[in-house]
Order: sequence, then structure tokens, then C-alpha cells
Amino acid sequence: MLDISAGLAETSAKILALPVCPSAPDSDGPSDDVHATLVATDTVLPDPLVSEINSYLADVRHSGAAGTVYLLPRPGRDPTHIMLVGVGSDDNLEAGWRSAGAAVARKAASRLASVTVLLPRSTAPAAARSFAEGAWLASYRYRLSAEPDDRATTLRRMTLAARDTGSVETAIASARAISDAVILARDLTNAPSVQKSPKWFADRVANAAARRKGVTTTVHDENDLAEGRFGAILAVGAGSSRPPRMVELSWRPRRSRAHVVLVGKGITFDSGGISIKTAEQMKLMRKDMGGAAAVCAAVLGAADLELPVRVTALAPLAENMISGSSMRPGDVVRHYGGLTTEVQNTDGEGRLVLGDALAYAARRLKPDLLVDLATLTGASHVALGKRTAALFTHNDAMAVALAAAGEAVGERTWRMPLPDDYVASLASDVADLNNAPPPGQAGAVVAALYLREFTGNRRDRWVHLDMSAPAWIETHDGPLVKGATGWGVRLLLRWLGSL
Ligand code: BES
Ligand code: MN
Ligand code: ZN
Repeated sequence: MLDISAGLAETSAKILALPVCPSAPDSDGPSDDVHATLVATDTVLPDPLVSEINSYLADVRHSGAAGTVYLLPRPGRDPTHIMLVGVGSDDNLEAGWRSAGAAVARKAASRLASVTVLLPRSTAPAAARSFAEGAWLASYRYRLSAEPDDRATTLRRMTLAARDTGSVETAIASARAISDAVILARDLTNAPSVQKSPKWFADRVANAAARRKGVTTTVHDENDLAEGRFGAILAVGAGSSRPPRMVELSWRPRRSRAHVVLVGKGITFDSGGISIKTAEQMKLMRKDMGGAAAVCAAVLGAADLELPVRVTALAPLAENMISGSSMRPGDVVRHYGGLTTEVQNTDGEGRLVLGDALAYAARRLKPDLLVDLATLTGASHVALGKRTAALFTHNDAMAVALAAAGEAVGERTWRMPLPDDYVASLASDVADLNNAPPPGQAGAVVAALYLREFTGNRRDRWVHLDMSAPAWIETHDGPLVKGATGWGVRLLLRWLGSL
């Protein structure tokens, strides 16, 4: 893993990265003359070097846009390389510095082992933190290779040099806690399903929890689930040779203001079951536990950041497989708490397991606030595209706060409706509910209405996030690396920190 440390500002570093921003447009000069300038000149750079850099910035027409990076080689001189990275304008400070950190890590990785970033005295702590977060997240790789260490293609060392090393150290520590949580979620989500049984997932989380003070884990195994009457988790897991689990993971600080329960969909592989998916639809279905990964990682991150809020993650884990013991279309399952669902489509398994977990959360844990994250419907992808999660709630304050948290960290959400007249789509002739809307209905909305039925008297304190699409990305982009994104971890940590 990339090593990031704080250092004193000095110019002896071989490879020096310097933040640049768009210069204020000059009113009388021609507009194509506008180029980037160093973020601040109160650094330790000698004047001749500053002039050299400024004329280079003009020559290459560096825009200063966030994430744009130029490498100036200076053979035979010190520093031997100067990297000029755009941090953008101040109106989106964190996003700009986050993509700058990612860009430096990527640029340096292709040719250099280590880099020193000179932070001007004016650098805000949030900027330094975002820069480190971007560098860590962009340097993430998931490889199962014959080579013992084939991560050599990523940057090894980064020094954030400043006059006030104390505040930079604090910024690096929180970036580290946040990045570690995202990386755990990515590792869990990228893991192939052959490895990722419900038990494996639960063990990984329990091990991570055991290393932290104030964090407790309960893993409900298949016997506990039977005893507790979690009929839906058991039904979805029945087709797999590897039985289901439910992880209950808690961070309880000494002084806590509220109890937040986070529920995450944990389908370790979704074949569709007897209502089988096509090969194409199935290819990436190891990601169908991205919600569970995010909520567990968020609880561990909240502990590392020592956030003053009590948080519990609930992750119903099951593998939706096809065998002689699979649940069938037409089966009726009885959920925790008693509601029944007619299984019209075994591929609607996510809402089944979430029904049990939400009912347990509402009835047993009695949270002040209840949020679920799930790769729930292909329809949410159709509605909002690859980079936006669908947000459903009756609680305006929670909608605003969660959307703002997501905006700040680069995890966009968009609020969708919960119209009461669509509830008719949930009807069944034999059960309280059915798990698949008739054709022509809004798939993501009906799924959210289904989940709402399980929130009991917590209905108005509940938010559902459908993250089917943003859980995965096809190409590197800023802090995101091809594969699992760890979507939701940073949004949740930011939101929990704001409570
Ligand atoms: N895990 C899928 C949803 C999904 C699809 C996530 C694509 C990520 C990418 C979910 O279990 C599912 O199969 N949903 C069905 C619901 C239907 C059967 C009611 C869907 O979206 O088609
Ligand atoms: Mn499914
Ligand atoms: Zn699924």
C-alpha cells in the first residue's frame, strides 16, 4: 500500500509536485492568455524556480483544471522532475484536491517510485485530506496473481510537505481511516464468489472488528436465523451449498447522540436462482453484496474516526443459487416479524433478505435513523445511469443531508418518489406482498415501496439507496479504480460525521 507521510517543506526532493490553479482572468489581456498559476507563492521555492515554472505553465497552457497534470523533466538539475497538478477553483475544494491527489499518484506510478508534494501555507486541512484520500484510492489494486507482489505499478511513497506538519498529520490520519474503509469494501466486493461465501464475508468483517476497540460483532448463523424466524434469508440461501449468515456489527462510542442502523444487501452471488439470469447479466453478480460491504466498512471507519454516534450495520448474507434445494417461483416465505411474500421471481432476492433485516432493525434495534444500501434493481441503472444512486425517503431532512454528504465526497444521489398509488403493484393473492412488479411498472420505485413495508414505525426515519450501478466502474476515473468502487462508504462516513 502507498505510504503517505507528512514532511517539512524543503526543496531538496528529487521529484516535486506543486498544486496549481486557474489564474483569475485578466480583464485587459486576450482571453487565450489565461493559464494556471501556482496555488500560492508563500512556499519555500526560490524566485528563479518560480519564474521557470510560471513560464512553463504558460508554454504548455496548463488550465489548472482539477486533475490535469504536467511533468517537467529537468535533467541534471534539482529537483529532477516537477509535477504541476491542477486543483481547480475554490468552489469545489475537496473534489479538486481529491482528483489532484489521484492524478499525482497515477502520473508518478508510471515512472517514479516516490514524490514530495509541496503544500502552500494556505492549504486547508480538508484539501490536504482530500489529496491524500485521492492518492490512496487511485493507488488501489485488486489482483489475485502468481506474483507475490505485483503491485509494483503503483506509487510507493508520497510526502506531503508543509510548514505545519501537525495539521497535515491529522489530515493524513483521517484520509487513512476513510480510505481503509473504502478499500475494505472494494476488496470484499471484488473478491470472486467462489471465495466469498456468506461465512467468509462474515469472518472477514469479524476479524476486522476484533482489531478495534468499541466495536462488537454478532454473526447469526443458519441455526440462529432459523430460531429467529428469518424465513426470507433462509429461503434465498437455500439453493447454495454454503449457508446464509447475518452480520450485526456495532460501533458504540462512550458519548453518543443517536443510534443509526445501516442495512446492506449481501448477496454474495446472484445467479437469479430458478428465475435464472442470462450469462451476460450474471457476469458481474459477485458485486451484489456491495451494500453489505459498504455498511460494514462504514461502521469500522466510524470507529477509526471515533465519530460520536452509535452505528450498527446489519448485513443479511446469502448466495442466490440453483439446485434441488432452491426456493421456487410461487413459494411463500415468512419474514422476520411475520409478513409474508409470494416469490413471483427468484431473482427478486435482494428485497426478500432486506425485508427480514429491515424488520429486525425496526422492531429489535429501534434506531433513531435507518438507512439501507442495496444493489437492488437494474431499473435504477436505467433511470439514473452509471454514476448516480437512487435515493428514496419520506424524510426531507435526511434526503438533504445524505445528498449533501454524497455531493461532498463525489458519490451522487438523486431523490425518487414513493407514490402510494403504486403500492397496488405489491399485492399478492396468497401473501401480504409479492417480490416482482408486473411488467411496465417502475422497477426501482416498486422495490423501494416493498422495502418500506418492513420499516414498521421507523417508516419516516428511513432512507433507501439503490446503488446497483455506481457499485462498479469500467474504467479508472479519479479516485475510482476499474472494478468495485466501494460506493457509499465515504457518503455514509461524511453523513455520520455531520449528525
Ligand atoms: N442484483 C439484481 C439487481 C442488479 C442488476 C444489480 C444489475 C446490479 C446490476 C437484483 O437482485 C435483481 O435481479 N433485480 C431484478 C428484480 C426483478 C426480478 C423484480 C431486476 O432488476 O431485474
Ligand atoms: Mn436478483
Ligand atoms: Zn440481486
